Amino acid sequence: MQKKIPWYEITPEETYQNRRDFLKSAALASLSLSSLSQASESNLDYLPATQSNLPGALAADELTPFEHVTGYNNFYEFGANKQDPIKNAHRLTLSPWKVDVGGLIDRPAVYDVDELIKGLGLEERIYRLRCVEAWSMVIPWVGVPLSAVLDRLGVQGSAKYVRFETLYRPSEMPGQKTLFSGIDYPYIEGLRIDEAMHPLTILAVGLYGKDLLGQNGAPLRLVVPWKYGFKSIKSIVKIELTEEKPLTTWAKSAPHEYGFYANVNPKVSHPRWSQARERRLPGGVFSPNIIDTQMFNGYADQVASLYSGMNLRTNY
Ligand code: MTE
Repeated sequence: MQKKIPWYEITPEETYQNRRDFLKSAALASLSLSSLSQASESNLDYLPATQSNLPGALAADELTPFEHVTGYNNFYEFGANKQDPIKNAHRLTLSPWKVDVGGLIDRPAVYDVDELIKGLGLEERIYRLRCVEAWSMVIPWVGVPLSAVLDRLGVQGSAKYVRFETLYRPSEMPGQKTLFSGIDYPYIEGLRIDEAMHPLTILAVGLYGKDLLGQNGAPLRLVVPWKYGFKSIKSIVKIELTEEKPLTTWAKSAPHEYGFYANVNPKVSHPRWSQARERRLPGGVFSPNIIDTQMFNGYADQVASLYSGMNLRTNY
């Protein structure tokens, strides 16, 4: 993500005009939720989130400060403690970064990450992130809908799932050298095709208006806001369209605790703890900021129909 082409140079004139008109009316209707204070530091050109360009913009939730979003992380490849990723991830070589796209797709190839998202128009999406460990944040991501990337590559009719893989590079990822980390590498995640094509599902390249940092999954990570955070796989190097349901990292390592779906659900407990409430970060020792967890992490209006008729207790 070194050379940045502004979106107005790579977006067709018509789209650009529409977007300008949209931006003008959006600016009149409401203020950008996050961009104002961060604007001077931005290095990405993107359509800011406003109260009106749903999906995903949140009026009520306060953004989690940048230091917490980038300093308290789960990224086992860099170590098992929350502060390990910020200490270790800056060693990761981000350029060149290739993404191997294959399987049931019309244009399989090894793409440069910039090429993969080029011209699709970056957007800001303010989403809640609910970790299965019962803490949460509110993060202003910058990215593109996964559906836009997949549509351009031509998903074949027989594709039922999308499988994602994280980089495996033990020389730069010290957690991958640990024998007893509890999970196998490379980290694997997956979505059903309708989940992958849902407008809330994005591939993020930035947050707070800037390129993603290593600890958050640079240069390309998935964000699926209605699912537990472990579905949002970081530092993606492989995307495969499959007919078979992928065997995902956590479902493989502890199948009774972590399922393929992993939809946020306050009524279905983890075997070892309740999921009814969550600790919204940052919180102090004396004010832990505990709030109720919402069904589908608050996105039920948009996504509940994907699971109609499905038993959410057995399909956890
Ligand atoms: N992706 C990889 N490759 N490795 C990981 O350890 N952790 C997951 C997810 N993606 C993880 C990963 C978990 S458990 C969570 S909660 C989120 O990343 C955390 O994202 P954040 O650190 O950007 O907040």
